Formats: sequence, C-alpha cells, structure tokens
Amino acid sequence: MKFFVDTADLSDIKELAATGLLDGVTTNPSLVAKSGHSNFIELIREIAAIVEGPVSAEVASTAFEPMMAEARTLSKIADNIAVKVPLTPAGLKVCKALSEDGIMVNVTLCFSAAQAILAAKAGASFVSPFVGRLDDIGQSGMELISDICSIYAAYPDFSTEVLVASVRSPMHVVEAAKMGADVATIPPNVIRQLFGHPLTDKGLAQFVEDWKKTGQTIPVS
Ligand code: E4P
Repeated sequence: MKFFVDTADLSDIKELAATGLLDGVTTNPSLVAKSGHSNFIELIREIAAIVEGPVSAEVASTAFEPMMAEARTLSKIADNIAVKVPLTPAGLKVCKALSEDGIMVNVTLCFSAAQAILAAKAGASFVSPFVGRLDDIGQSGMELISDICSIYAAYPDFSTEVLVASVRSPMHVVEAAKMGADVATIPPNVIRQLFGHPLTDKGLAQFVEDWKKTGQTIPVS
C-alpha cells in the first residue's frame, strides 16, 4: 500500500519524506490556500522535487477548454505530476485526453461507485473517493472503498488505482489496507498518529532502563 501525504505544507512534506515512507503528495485548492503560498506553480515545482512519486496538482477551472489548458501547464511542471481533475463530465473528458497522451490523472471528488467506474473508463491513473466527507453526512466511506475495490478487481483491464482520500484517522488507513486499496492520502497529523502505540513507548522506556543496568555500550565505528 502506498502512502501519500495530503498537504501543501513544504515543511511537513520534507519532514515526512525524510522517513523514507512517503510515496507521493496530494494537494487541492483548499490546501494551497491554507499553505499561504502565492505562487502555485513554484509551490508544486518545489514539492515535486522533494518526492519521487506522484504529486497531484489540481486544475482551477471547471469548463473543458480552460481545464485542458491548465492541465497542460501543470503536467509540464515535472515528470511526476498527476493532474487532478474533478469528477464531472468535463473533468472526465480532460482525463481521457490526458491519459491518452500518457499523462497521469487523479480524478477527485468521487463519492459513488458509479463515478469510480466512469473514472476508470476515462483512463484515470487514480480515483480519489473521499471517505471522511461521506462519514460526515452519515454514509459509510469505507463501504464505498470496498465496493470500488471489488468492482475494479472484476475488470483486470481497469488500471486505475484506488486512492483513499479525506482520511481522518488511522482506522481509515487500516480499513483501507484490509480492503486492498492501492493508496491512502493522509493528512500529516494522521501519518504521525500511525507510528504511535502506548505499549511501544512503555516497552522502549523499559528496554532503555534495563540496558543501563548492564553497564555496556554497543561499539560503533
Ligand atoms: C484528496 O486528494 C483531498 O485533497 C483530500 O483528501 C480532501 O480531504 P478533506 O475532506 O479532509 O478536505
């Protein structure tokens, strides 16, 4: 399972990339606004230089022609850019055109299995179902992931990866992994939570204390 970080904050991306566990980055207009950066293209260029894997950069327009033009600009920023388009008829039309040109596309704002089927048919590299936002309105985000994973598994010619988005907790990540989802894009604070367990802290403190009792050190060169 691949881990992307869902942020446009450069210091978070640098810190998490240094763990060696990060496979990519997703951004969206809200995250870019939150980052405070005034030059979107330069921001994406910097992010794409930090991580080797896909960096999702989202178009701002909603009509086909302007979206297509923006997508071309974004795709030229770096080789690892995945152009992010909304799951609308125009967005899927852009997706089809770009994927035929070998450009990675992340189809975002997916809230149903029917929409995920359309994204796969349009040749998306990734489809982003938003689990947290479904949970927020009393629907099951993880049930949608399960549905999409089984549908895609039934059609080996679909090459679209399931990118679990709008992740709110470590349990979303674990449930997604149990279902065989390809990727989870996770906010920095939730990635940090994945490392933690009180028994790890307790056990480590005990080992440190007991090691001191041995009076030994491990030779290092
Ligand atoms: C996905 O690519 C989106 O950026 C993101 O996961 C949305 O999450 P939110 O619902 O927490 O805004």
